[in-house]
Amino acid sequence: MFLTRRSLLLAGGAGLGAWLARTHNDAVARVPERVASVPLAVDPQSLAAYVDPLPLPPLARAVGKRPDPSDPARQLPFYRIEMKPATVKVHRDLPPTPMWSFGGSVPGPTFETRSGEGLLVEWVNALPAKHMLPVDHTIHGAEKENPEVRTVVHLHGARAPSESDGYPEAWYPPGQSAICHYPNKQDAATLWYHDHTLGINRLNVYAGLLGAFIVRDKAEEALNLPRGQYDIPLVVFDRMFGKDGSLYYPVSDDAKSPWTAEFFGDAILINGKLKPYHAVEPRKYRLRIVNAANARFFHFSLSDGLSFIQIGSDQGLLAAPVEQKFLSLAPGERADVVVDFAAARGKNVTLKNDVLDILQFRVGERAATDAAAVPAVLRPIVRTSEASAIKTRNLTLEEIDNLVGEPTTMMLNGQHWCMPVTENPVIDTVEIWNLINLTDDSHPIHLHLVRFQILDRRRFAVDEYNQTKNLRYTGRVIPPEPGEAGWKDTVRADPGMVTRIIVRFEGYPGRFVWHCHILEHEDNEMMRPFQVLPAPSAA
Ligand code: C2O
Ligand code: CU
Ligand code: CU
Repeated sequence: MFLTRRSLLLAGGAGLGAWLARTHNDAVARVPERVASVPLAVDPQSLAAYVDPLPLPPLARAVGKRPDPSDPARQLPFYRIEMKPATVKVHRDLPPTPMWSFGGSVPGPTFETRSGEGLLVEWVNALPAKHMLPVDHTIHGAEKENPEVRTVVHLHGARAPSESDGYPEAWYPPGQSAICHYPNKQDAATLWYHDHTLGINRLNVYAGLLGAFIVRDKAEEALNLPRGQYDIPLVVFDRMFGKDGSLYYPVSDDAKSPWTAEFFGDAILINGKLKPYHAVEPRKYRLRIVNAANARFFHFSLSDGLSFIQIGSDQGLLAAPVEQKFLSLAPGERADVVVDFAAARGKNVTLKNDVLDILQFRVGERAATDAAAVPAVLRPIVRTSEASAIKTRNLTLEEIDNLVGEPTTMMLNGQHWCMPVTENPVIDTVEIWNLINLTDDSHPIHLHLVRFQILDRRRFAVDEYNQTKNLRYTGRVIPPEPGEAGWKDTVRADPGMVTRIIVRFEGYPGRFVWHCHILEHEDNEMMRPFQVLPAPSAA
């Protein structure tokens, strides 16, 4: 017998997972009671603020050159990055935390590259055989027959061939590695890499397997935006810690099936530190903010009346800068912002998430001359016309709970991961995807390979749709917010709304995935393959 989450809650039968899910869109961060009562949990608010400097992840360094797989006459930089255990000092007064890392740091090393300059990465699984977090063997892909520790790396936001995209089933166990080719034939943008293993992705990323990847290009460099030491990544994610410094990941009440529907931690880390400070000059800085949380939506603001000048979203620059007092980011999304600290000379400015201070900028008295500027026009972004779409797909987002204690399942269009491919666009054609959210939660939907534009969001009659499959709109058309009106690869599909996106399937034919970027959902069926078909003439 199946019940929706809402009816389960009304019946008072919700497990921890469903209970936690209720907090997911709350404006104010709070510690869920059930989890706060975990013995030995550390309350991050009891730790001193701003005693650690903000770390900047090391830069990834090529170890040599290898031939370009698509043009063997050409040599590409070759990187070799090990996924391996590391101890991370999250806060001065917390014992070191055992985590899993790329190359020894969390976040892993930041890649810096240029548009069209391809590179090769050998991602090496040098992890132990036993997982550091509770694997749920009832989840598809995480069955007992499979090695407990498996990894496969995805470069989020990359236009990369299918073989290098980190297909969730292309995982490999400790002792093995995979070489991925990233041609980077795409515009400048802040991408990020993370584990994508079927059934344990949430645990591998939570353990620390994530990092930033920056693509630059000439067009962007011509703009005179802040650069060098004034251009920094802020990779943000939440965690929970024990008093011994260990990472804590909550489990359900069912020992056989520990999966929970969403993770929310009370410790918000920036570049792997809890409440760090960063000394800045009274001038403009470019901050590339990545929401690398499992499930938390961040709502950032700055103290002292400062605002974010948003210049970019997931897939690079917006058409024009947008001044924002508040900046919301769903899991997987990025925002590129310029903050001008000139107005706060000599002050301490804090970055907040909801009501919590999470980072302190110590603004100095003196700046070397600030030649950086934010031009009124950043780049042309041509809106993809709806008339160019050759297909419109209605795709539902659904949530199903069952009463016998098995995990809640989230699904895309009522399909399980292992069912045959249903989304099969032809290369270089345009499609409109209507994301019809039948659930009570917001789901950040991400498509691999492509960039897309948000057309609009619109409220519809959910109950009527459930009963008759008739899509009747009840609200007005809401255009994308200014900060999401550029090129995107992840979009918030809000509850009770149809979110329409328009996508040109450019790049490479082959098998890719689309999924909810709440990692707990993604692991539990809220992910589907899609197949980009070759052009008919080439077939
Ligand atoms: Cu950031 Cu398919 O993922
Ligand atoms: Cu991706
Ligand atoms: Cu979701």
